[in-house]
Order: sequence, then structure tokens, then C-alpha cells
Amino acid sequence: MPVAASTQQAVGIVIGLAVVVGWALYLLANVRRAKAEVGSEVELAANRKSYLNDEQLEGPRLERFLGWGLVGLTVCAVGLPLYWLAEPGRQDGAVADFEERLGGEYAIHGQPIGGGALFATTSDGGFNCAGCHGGMDALGAEVEYTLTDPVTGDLRQVEWQAPALNDITLRMSDDQIRQVLVYGRPFSPMPAWGLEGGGPLNEQQIDNLILYLHRIAVTPEDAQEQRTEEAKAELDRLKAEAAKEPPEAGAEEPSMGMALFNLNCARCHTLGWSYDEPQVAGGGAFGPSLYNSVNQFPAVEDHVEFVADGVEEGEAYGLNGQATGRMPYFGQVLSPEQIQAIVDYERSLAERVNREAAGGDKPATPPPNVTTTTAPSAGA
Ligand code: HEC
Ligand code: HEC
Repeated sequence: MPVAASTQQAVGIVIGLAVVVGWALYLLANVRRAKAEVGSEVELAANRKSYLNDEQLEGPRLERFLGWGLVGLTVCAVGLPLYWLAEPGRQDGAVADFEERLGGEYAIHGQPIGGGALFATTSDGGFNCAGCHGGMDALGAEVEYTLTDPVTGDLRQVEWQAPALNDITLRMSDDQIRQVLVYGRPFSPMPAWGLEGGGPLNEQQIDNLILYLHRIAVTPEDAQEQRTEEAKAELDRLKAEAAKEPPEAGAEEPSMGMALFNLNCARCHTLGWSYDEPQVAGGGAFGPSLYNSVNQFPAVEDHVEFVADGVEEGEAYGLNGQATGRMPYFGQVLSPEQIQAIVDYERSLAERVNREAAGGDKPATPPPNVTTTTAPSAGA
């Protein structure tokens, strides 16, 4: 397409030059002829000169004029329809070309946007979101990550689970997503992308990525169905594990709440969950320890509401929590029963820990979070 445009431009320029040069020559010739005109105005004035007679006028000269007129008319009559025929194809081609450069089939509602192109893998010219998050549909994947032991300084390689993003717009507001994109997730493989966070993308590009995430989002029904399927499989896994190695006395038996917690909450609230080395359940990681949740939410309904609907950044929640905007909400991707099951499980964890702390013989404090993956817990 750019080639055609430049050929067209070249032809245009040549025609333009020819016209200008032609006019210049004509004017020049006119001026020179005018100079020769010396004599009586009566004889020389153009409208007084004797002109061609009728014979000559209606003869070959007229025919020549008419002939050229016909040629011009033919050009218009044939050329314009041809142009008209080709125009829709040309326009489609231009749009397709534009969309291709801006994100191909991932354009929003037929409007090209840059998000898809930014989301693509490095080899496709993007910023590799697709590379870490499981392709252009962002179904989730494992990524290599190097952990540093804060005590020994030893490095080791782990496989970190990068979450699926095809329902992220159902569990985080655009502002929450923007916060993750701009600043990244500290102590995880997710880098900062926004200029303010030290990354390469400007505000418009971040916005385009968020539009793209809306574009690939599944429906709430599909998200719920998928999470339900996954939770069933997780419960089977937990039961099989418990059959091999029964849980310690007092520890939670495998339950739907536990399975759902593992899949939806553990990566932020259980240290090491994302790389297959889970520490104590609910002990805290990027998100705070949940052992305070019974105190934070004396009424179960408030706890459920917090998990289902979330709280805007800066707003208060529970008894003394203040939201940072980093906790997602789950009311669109989990059913009310599922959220209730998770909350019951969370409260049983917290109650057990509190009970043990109050009088049990075992110290119930969770082990301190020892690796660099520990983010300062916020909100509580
Ligand atoms: C090096 C791999 C890597 C790259 C590249 C990457 N991410 Fe991530 N991203 C991750 C990991 C891992 C997490 C989860 C971190 C955690 O466990 O909290 C994550 C988290 C996220 C989250 C929050 C998801 C949630 O459910 O909490 C969003 C949104 C996101 N990434 C979007 C993007 C976008 C958009 C890009 C491209 C500009 C991108 N990521 C590039 C690895 C990556
Ligand atoms: C992307 C990380 C992330 C995920 C996933 C996540 N949380 Fe959180 N959660 C947080 C953060 C961060 C906070 C602290 C509050 C804040 O910053 O607004 C928090 C706070 C909480 C609190 C309040 C704790 C207190 O004492 O103040 C509860 C309860 C909670 N989360 C439950 C859940 C449940 C249940 C799930 C799964 C359905 C879940 N979280 C999934 C990050 C997460």
C-alpha cells in the first residue's frame, strides 16, 4: 500500500510540474507576442481582427475540438466507475493494514487499538505479556524466576505461576489493574511497565493494554464455570494427598473452601504458593496474614461482602483496615456459596491460630516470611 501511494504521488508531482511549466511557457509566449503588437488598436485589438470564416470554423477545427472532448468524456466515463469499483477494496485494505499494525484481530469492536500489539510476545514485536501470561488469550503459565535467600544470599530458580488474565477485568477495576501494570508486583516476576514505575510504557499504552484485557475477557458465567471445574480437581488432589498423609491433629480437613482458597487466594495470602513451596496457609505474602480476619470482621457478612465486592482504594474496611486497592474482588467469578465456603475456611484458620495462641501448647505464630518474596503486608 505505501508503494502504491508513493507511485501515485510521483505521478501527481509530474502532472503538477507539467501544468506549471506549461502555464509558464504559455504566459511567456503570450507576453512575447504582445510585445510585437505595435499599431492601431483598431486593427490590432483581438476582437477587431478578422477571424476564421464559417467554413473553417465548422470544419476540421471544430471536429478536432469535439474529438478531444470525446476523449476527455471517455476518460471520465470509464475511469470514474473503475475508481469507484476499486474504492471499497482500497478502503478495506487500508483498515486491515492499520489494524494489523495496531493489534490485528484483537482490535476492539472493529476499532484498531494498540493493546494487542503491546501484549504480544517479544518475537511478535510486543512487550511479552503473552509470553508470561500464557498466549494472546492469557490463560496463565509458569515463568522462570530467581529467588534470593535473604539470609544466605543463595540464588535459586523457581517456576512461578503467572495468573490467567482472561477474567482479570471481572475481579479488578481498571484503576486496580492500572496500578499493577504501572508499578508491577514487587517480589514477583511481574515487572513495572509504566513510566512512573520505571517501565517503558506511557499512559496511553497502559490504557490500551487495559482495553485489550477487556477485549479478551470471558463472561462471568464462563469464569465461574472454569473456577468451579478447577476447584473440583483441586479438592480431589487435596483428598488424595490427605489419604496418603493424614493432616496433623487439629489441622483443617480437605474441603471445598480450602480448594477454592488455594486457587483464588493463596498466591497472595500464603507465602510460596505461586512456586509450589507453600508455607503455612493464610500466613501472608503479598497480601497480609489472614489470622486477624475474625477480629477484622466480627460479623461474617462483612467478611463475605469484603471478599465479594472489594473496597475502593483508600477506603476503610472491617474494624481497622484501610484498602490499598491491591485486593481483588470475587463476586463476579465465584458464586455466593463459593465465597461463603472460602470465608468459612479462612475463619476456621484464624480461629484455630487464635485458639492455639490463647492456650494451646504449640506456639501458633506463623513462621516469619523469610524470603524476598515477602511484601510488607498492608491494610491491617
Ligand atoms: C516475566 C513475566 C511477566 C511478564 C513479561 C508480564 N507479567 Fe504480568 N504477571 C507475571 C506474574 C508472575 C504475575 C503474578 C504475580 C503474583 O504472583 O502476584 C503477574 C501479574 C499480572 C497482573 C495481575 C494479575 C492478578 O490476577 O493478580 C496483571 C494485570 C498483569 N500481570 C498484566 C501484565 C501485562 C499487561 C503485561 C505486559 C505489559 C505483563 N503482565 C507482563 C509475570 C509477567
Ligand atoms: C492479588 C493479590 C490478592 C489476592 C489474589 C487475594 N487477596 Fe486478599 N488481600 C490482598 C491485599 C493486598 C490485602 C490488604 C488489603 C488492601 O491492601 O487493600 C488483602 C486483604 C484481605 C483480607 C483482609 C485481611 C485483614 O485482616 O485486613 C481478607 C479477609 C482477604 N484479603 C481475603 C482474601 C480472599 C478470601 C481471597 C480469595 C478469594 C483473597 N483475599 C485474594 C491481596 C490479595
